[in-house]
Amino acid sequence: MREKLELLERRRGESELGGGAARLKAQHDKGKLSARERLDVLLDENSFVELDRFATARSAAADGDTPIYGDGVVTGYGRIDGRLVYVFSQDFTVFGGSLSETHAQKICKVMDLAVRNGAPVIGLNDSGGARIQEGVVSLGGYADIFLRNTLASGVVPQISAVLGPCAGGAVYSPAITDFVYMVRGTSYMFVTGPNVVKTVTHEDVTMEQLGGADTHAATSGVAHFVHDSELASLAAIRELFRYVPSNNLDEPPRGPGTDPRDRREGSLLDIVPDHPSKPYDMHDVLRRVVDDGEFYEVQPAYAQNIVCGFAHLGGHSVGIVANQPAVLAGVLDINASVKAARFIRFCDAFNIPIVTFEDVPGFLPGLSQEHGGIIKHGAKLLYAYCEATVPKLTVITRKAYGGAYDVMSSKHIRGDFNVAWPTAEIAVMGPKGAVEIIYKREIAQAADPVAATDEKVAEYTATFANPYIAAGRGYVDDIIDPRDTRPRLIDALDTLRTKRDRNPPRKHGNLPL
Ligand code: HXC
Repeated sequence: MREKLELLERRRGESELGGGAARLKAQHDKGKLSARERLDVLLDENSFVELDRFATARSAAADGDTPIYGDGVVTGYGRIDGRLVYVFSQDFTVFGGSLSETHAQKICKVMDLAVRNGAPVIGLNDSGGARIQEGVVSLGGYADIFLRNTLASGVVPQISAVLGPCAGGAVYSPAITDFVYMVRGTSYMFVTGPNVVKTVTHEDVTMEQLGGADTHAATSGVAHFVHDSELASLAAIRELFRYVPSNNLDEPPRGPGTDPRDRREGSLLDIVPDHPSKPYDMHDVLRRVVDDGEFYEVQPAYAQNIVCGFAHLGGHSVGIVANQPAVLAGVLDINASVKAARFIRFCDAFNIPIVTFEDVPGFLPGLSQEHGGIIKHGAKLLYAYCEATVPKLTVITRKAYGGAYDVMSSKHIRGDFNVAWPTAEIAVMGPKGAVEIIYKREIAQAADPVAATDEKVAEYTATFANPYIAAGRGYVDDIIDPRDTRPRLIDALDTLRTKRDRNPPRKHGNLPL
């Protein structure tokens, strides 16, 4: 036994060497942690339990090569704040972290366990893609992972950190997962690299321009979070779990709940400017309302005309969707619709109530939006709100115009608690646009068309651009003092804890893609 134990210890030690000291140094020289170091940072201390550490590549065994234990990926489970998570961490020091049959099987094993045991999957990606020596078997391995990503979607949260190259078809696994984290300077994602791009389209682009972290955070919307270091990125993943549950049958975790539930916020009276076309930063509203001012913003650099993120309200975990009047007047466009729709569907899948802060002048007009398909993309947002059965709460701070009024979690699409501030303007369109249409003839015939327009605008504003008509119909449940926003939302969330609602049985809906 003792001899055999010695052998076991030796082999365990070998299994932790990866591709050897020189390659490990090269990894560190690039400013990257090793696969195991990353897991140490991500997981609670000493909580990692490795599976399949002795797995080896079939191709190596067949060739009679010395097998490399683990085959380029470290897999297993551990804890984040005591909660079970399944993990895989690709080891770039072994064949560039490339994906072989064995490597894929190890990943599939932890994904299957995660779904069976109702725990999140976190993938730390750092890979040269398909193991070239294994050919189609490696492609099959990717497909096995894609299938599992798809079947696990909406069952357990799936998180991807891209901490090195992620190219070719390999990008589609992170793309199916719920949240993608990237690191500036060391992460890259693209379907084809700069050389192929140069050959095919004659465009000269750097890796960073084509698929770096900031590109995916601000331009493509592929990345949800970008950080300057791996440490910051891994810490941010841990923080996400303050808001999201472990699976679709669990309740989301509660916040500390130390911020007084009945806290009235006097400064909310001075945020919405007197003039309706003046901007303000919706973050100033959100931070004053949520627990301890803590807001975990998702895709902060992408489609900034809509703000999405997690927070706690009276300890309840919530997903916040808010129009941002400081960017493009808070208008809904293609990117904002898609960003918010995906966020809403995540919240709905994982029992996280959705709180909407609304100040929206409508959908963005223009050729590029129409040709780009704002009709079908805007429909995604509408669809996401309509199908969501989690508690839906809405605060209209100012504008709620046109189709956007319907879309932004209105009462008509199963909003549970809809309130407006006294500054709300709820109508088919803004006063000026409306007057120019309905009083076109009178204004044209008036001795002073400008004065006539002003007069009609004032009349329209007094009659329509307010929350009382909607309140008169019960389309908003109440018009509230902005200072009471926090206590009123918390109280409503309490009442909605036992909410039960469901959609008709069907295979699945047909989301307008
Ligand atoms: C086998 C690979 C590999 C791969 C890298 N290596 N990629 N081995 N299969 N796909 C090995 C290298 O031989 C090298 O081994 C070590 O990993 C490190 O690679 P370097 O090139 O030295 O590192 P670096 O200069 O940092 O460049 C990293 C890289 C580059 C940009 C990822 O290695 C590269 O371009 N690799 C090929 C990428 C690729 O085309 N993959 C297939 C994509 S198609 P040694 O022994 O020297 O340390 C794909 C399809 C997925 O993935 C399909 C899903 C449907």
